[in-house]
Amino acid sequence: KEVVLSGIRPTGFLHLGNYFGAMRNYVRMQDEFNCYFFVANWHSLTTHPDTKELKNSVHRVIAENVACGLDPDKVALYVQSDVPEIAELYLYLNMMAYKGELEKTVTFKEKVRLQPDNVNAGLLTYPVLQAADILIHRAVKVPVGKDQEQHLEMARNYAERFNHRYGDVLPLPYAFNYGGELVKILSLDGVGKMSKSENQMNTLYLADEDESIRKKIMKAKTDQGPSEPHSVKPDYIENLFTLMKLVSTPDTVQKFEDDFNNSSTGNCIIRYGDMKKQLAEDMIRFIQPIRAKAADIQHNHELLQKIIRQGADKARASASETLKLVRAAVGMDY
Ligand code: TYM
Repeated sequence: KEVVLSGIRPTGFLHLGNYFGAMRNYVRMQDEFNCYFFVANWHSLTTHPDTKELKNSVHRVIAENVACGLDPDKVALYVQSDVPEIAELYLYLNMMAYKGELEKTVTFKEKVRLQPDNVNAGLLTYPVLQAADILIHRAVKVPVGKDQEQHLEMARNYAERFNHRYGDVLPLPYAFNYGGELVKILSLDGVGKMSKSENQMNTLYLADEDESIRKKIMKAKTDQGPSEPHSVKPDYIENLFTLMKLVSTPDTVQKFEDDFNNSSTGNCIIRYGDMKKQLAEDMIRFIQPIRAKAADIQHNHELLQKIIRQGADKARASASETLKLVRAAVGMDY
């Protein structure tokens, strides 16, 4: 079975971008592949989070993953810092990574803009740690959203350089999505991607209450509608259709597609108000059970501990095998 790996930073509640860009794939992949999924708590340290909040967030992410359908008996679901082998591989890979290209990474440049007073070395080498996460299990498929594409390309570069220098040890990993194209869910105001740090009104969380889901969706950006049938949809409208495809029935989506393209008196008859009402109700039906289950698991510390320990054992077993090969290749096996 091919090896699959992916990770999520514990920086707050998970949102629809995380779900539709990444987690939806995890749930499907667990039946087909040898899967490793983890909470990237080392990666979070780059922004100097509050210690207690970080701990809670790690538990929350584990709980939300299970609530979304991941089965800890089928996959390795673990916390990054429980697997010290990753840190050793990170050290070797750092010798394959060059300052110039790290400085050019899109996510790095964004962070420099957001936190100019805290441009630490961890931030610069973030993609190297991410490569270590992936390569430590010799994973080849990495289910992620579109924003991670460049990091995957960098991981392949480091693996290639390592293999070139030390022999073929690390297979090359590729970003993966069942639909083919990687997904990017937009923020509800139509500006940029949906993200955890962004204005909370524009992000739909898996933990949102019904009323809040309604309010946010009804406020999502729309316009007066297309001026003629078969117009190209603006990306914020396309985003609403994307969300609708994910949570509504095909018939419902078709109805609004038809409305978008049908003109009665020259004007297209779609009413975005109605579309958003429908989307909100379908979204509530989708989020409700996840929200409830995640809350239950999050408060069950015994269960969380069990999941986390079991995950760490599985992950360390795989990681130490790779590290043995890596050490031998680099000549670090005395
Ligand atoms: P993170 O924590 O920002 O996001 C977790 C996953 O959610 C996806 N995602 C989105 N997909 C579509 N539309 C969006 N608006 C959206 N927002 C987030 C992300 O692409 C990601 O798949 N660097 C990673 C964490 C990481 C990792 C790894 C991932 C660390 N090591 C190894 C894969 C493999 C990150 O910050 O994801």
